[in-house]
Amino acid sequence: MIKLSFTLNKNRLELMVSEMKPLSQILYEDLQIDTQERNCNGKVCGNCLVLFDKEPTLGCLIPAFKLQNKTVTTFDSFMQTAHYRNIRRIYTQLNIEPCPNCYAAKTLIFESILLKSKTKASQTSTLDDFSKNFVNKGKNIFDKPEILAETIEREFLISPCPCMNSQELFEIAIKAQEDRIKRRVL
Ligand code: FES
Repeated sequence: MIKLSFTLNKNRLELMVSEMKPLSQILYEDLQIDTQERNCNGKVCGNCLVLFDKEPTLGCLIPAFKLQNKTVTTFDSFMQTAHYRNIRRIYTQLNIEPCPNCYAAKTLIFESILLKSKTKASQTSTLDDFSKNFVNKGKNIFDKPEILAETIEREFLISPCPCMNSQELFEIAIKAQEDRIKRRVL
């Protein structure tokens, strides 16, 4: 057993658990969060996905000891945020959305991509104009940070449900990013 201390959905928690117990089981058995798939017997369905320090990660593959001092966001909590409403708005505008089987997983992956793209922009936005031009090589990523097609391909490998194609995933990510910038959803 280990004494675990981590942040779940912005709340700091401490609990005693077996050190190899998977996060998906901890959420269900110790914290009574039962909105997620808990075990697909190694089929890598992707449905237990959470944001683990902002990275989309399968909860059934995170042993308890790795949670120490980390941050976890589950989909049910994410649904209460302006960032979720941004992604939801784009699903509606484009009339495309993930199927019910992977809706939570793919939506959290979009969030992770958008968060990382924002971090990339803010890290470089403190540079002076000369440095921006140098780093940027003529591309304006400061007002509109880049999301690349290959990023989309890579990030969605963790959610293998084929209900959406790469072009649709890419379009949603780009439109959601534009919407966040326009509405200043930070
Ligand atoms: S429950 Fe299917 S990948 Fe975790």
